[in-house]
Amino acid sequence: MSVKKVVILFSGEGSNMVNIIQTLHPHQVEVVAVMTNKPDANGIAKAKDLGVEVLVLDHRDYESRELFDGALVKKIEGLDVDLVVLAGFMRILTPVFTDHVKAINIHPSLLPKFKGANALERSYHDSDDIVGVSTHMVVSEVDGGELVMQKSFDKSGMDFESFKEKIHACEHVIYPLSILKVLA
Ligand code: GRF
Repeated sequence: MSVKKVVILFSGEGSNMVNIIQTLHPHQVEVVAVMTNKPDANGIAKAKDLGVEVLVLDHRDYESRELFDGALVKKIEGLDVDLVVLAGFMRILTPVFTDHVKAINIHPSLLPKFKGANALERSYHDSDDIVGVSTHMVVSEVDGGELVMQKSFDKSGMDFESFKEKIHACEHVIYPLSILKVLA
């Protein structure tokens, strides 16, 4: 069976992007490129160090969300991938993207709780101590697509820093597994 291809989209640190490359690439999944909307994203140097091609598409060069999404879809179609992996890609995507691209996303809450922005903070301050992370398919509703996997833990007694670290650790466990599940 041939190795399936993905492209990873990110906007910032790229810790999930790095973890996916280190865990799956190139034998289980081929990361053909990573792409960012932020020319100064910290993750760019990390991907280059890992020998993966970095494509930059700055959303500020486009007059509308739809025009940016159209350019993004065109680039992605040129890469001929089986799945688009959103890993901290901080853009609200329009149907121009969601109707044309098969994509998975990761979110730092137990969806359907705390969709959208500031999920980490909202989850930390919630009265429910059981928190966690989710992977889901991407649809036009923000964080609204079908769930792929979740991982939960008990946050009682944790300060915000250790809570954040635990969230990232859980993300790094379930995201590679979720990608393999969707590609299977
Ligand atoms: C993660 O917490 C992810 O759930 C959210 O954005 C964050 C990205 O972190 N969508 P990183 O850039 O992968 O370190």
